[in-house]
Amino acid sequence: MAEPQQRVLETVEDTEAFGRELAGGLRPGDLVVLDGPLGAGKTALTRGIAVGLGVAGRVSSPTFIIARAHRAGVRPDGTPGVALVHVDAYRLAGDLDELDSLDLDTDLQHAVVVVEWGKGVVEHLADRHLRVQLAREPESDVRTAIWEWIE
Ligand SMILES: Nc1ncnc2c1ncn2[C@@H]1O[C@H](COP(=O)(O)OP(=O)(O)OP(=O)(O)O)[C@@H](O)[C@H]1O
Ligand SMILES: [Mg+2]
Repeated sequence: MAEPQQRVLETVEDTEAFGRELAGGLRPGDLVVLDGPLGAGKTALTRGIAVGLGVAGRVSSPTFIIARAHRAGVRPDGTPGVALVHVDAYRLAGDLDELDSLDLDTDLQHAVVVVEWGKGVVEHLADRHLRVQLAREPESDVRTAIWEWIE
């Protein structure tokens, strides 16, 4: 298996740019699991992924809902975009019935699915997933991303 890769992200713009870059390698059916504490930048990274996938509309932090679907638009390079389903599993608190009711299997047939707080909860939904772990230092904007495809 490939070694995990690491990147230092000095600003929120760096994190969004990193998301755009990751999205270049994502296809419908890909599952992305984002890990890291509150405010680590999971939603910021998802915003970048959304731009790179070329989804229509803005990505916000889903405060009252658990999953939000974004239709495909056009990728930054002009090629057809890919739909994104953005899940915040924080409020699921490991509730597998509620996870089931989201029907992410169906989404994975046509979309990229990105799950904040998904570690240990959603990996079974796909044969492999991209795990991105974001770490932060106290009192600093600097984030560190460690990522790898896990088969
Ligand atoms: N290098 C950085 N990367 C990402 N976000 C940063 C960075 N520096 C500062 N920030 C700020 O940190 C916050 C990250 O918030 P974000 O909502 O993306 O975190 P989150 O991991 O999704 O949190 P939650 O667990 O609450 O969903 C934003 O306010 C952003 O502007
Ligand atoms: Mg978030």
